[in-house]
Amino acid sequence: MNIPRLTLIGAGPGDIELITLKGIRAIKSADVILYDALANVELLEYARPNALKIYVGKRLGKYVYTQDEINEKIVYLAKEYGHVVRLKGGDPFVFGRGFEEMEYAKAFNISCEIVSGVTSAIAAPASVGIPITSRGFSESFWVITGTTKKGELSRDIELAAQSTATVVILMGMSKLSQICEVFIKYGKSEMPMAIIQNGTRKNVKSVVGTVSTIIEKSISENIANPAVIVIGEVVSLSEQFNEQLITNNACPDLKSGQTWFSDCVAIVEV
Ligand SMILES: C[S@@+](CC[C@H](N)C(=O)[O-])C[C@H]1O[C@@H](n2cnc3c(N)ncnc32)[C@H](O)[C@@H]1O
Repeated sequence: MNIPRLTLIGAGPGDIELITLKGIRAIKSADVILYDALANVELLEYARPNALKIYVGKRLGKYVYTQDEINEKIVYLAKEYGHVVRLKGGDPFVFGRGFEEMEYAKAFNISCEIVSGVTSAIAAPASVGIPITSRGFSESFWVITGTTKKGELSRDIELAAQSTATVVILMGMSKLSQICEVFIKYGKSEMPMAIIQNGTRKNVKSVVGTVSTIIEKSISENIANPAVIVIGEVVSLSEQFNEQLITNNACPDLKSGQTWFSDCVAIVEV
């Protein structure tokens, strides 16, 4: 009889190689794998052929199972089969409900382990050349959910908009216009902004602009979920942002391969 246990694994942001060795090792020893929509399904190829693989993400915009049902499934399957792996997109403790699942399983004396993952909050911007901090540009970053449990805009966005931090918003696409309104209210209409869809994946797509132009750009480029929103000066460091300035002749002295620094005050070779 296998000992019941649960391992929560961060599958990373989408690129199959952005999972940890520890994560792969746990997948290889799983009796059951419960996987989410944002975990790359190719990772299931590491599982034993007889391991049960159950999809518990969203289908056609609706959850296949409620969170309560998933919690119950974890406990039942661990007792029945042994090692249950919960494979989640990004990092399980970053808006991933990982802690809830762990606490529920622990209440049934199931031992739990967490294997951290690479979060999309950092990796999606990085995959299109946006660092979420950079010396002289940003001293901190906020990672905020755009949509709260009640379906409302997080009040933290209002606080973040008043800071000089890089603001990274997950699950924010349905609130994009409200988010932009908040930043405009605090005088940030010209702040560089980016949206990255399917970051780190082969089908990655992104738009860059400013708070006042991003909605139009995201509509014309058909940007949809899953997407990360980034607001902050660091966006101006990306090649895509600078190429756009050159195309629009917004900064006449700027040439390809150079980076715009604060209103064209300084240009550096990159
Ligand atoms: C429920 S949260 C899970 C976040 C995850 N735990 C993490 O650390 O990345 C889902 C949100 O993550 C973001 N997301 C996840 N993977 C993404 C990717 N590859 N590209 C862009 N956004 C992504 C989107 O904002 C999506 O709505």
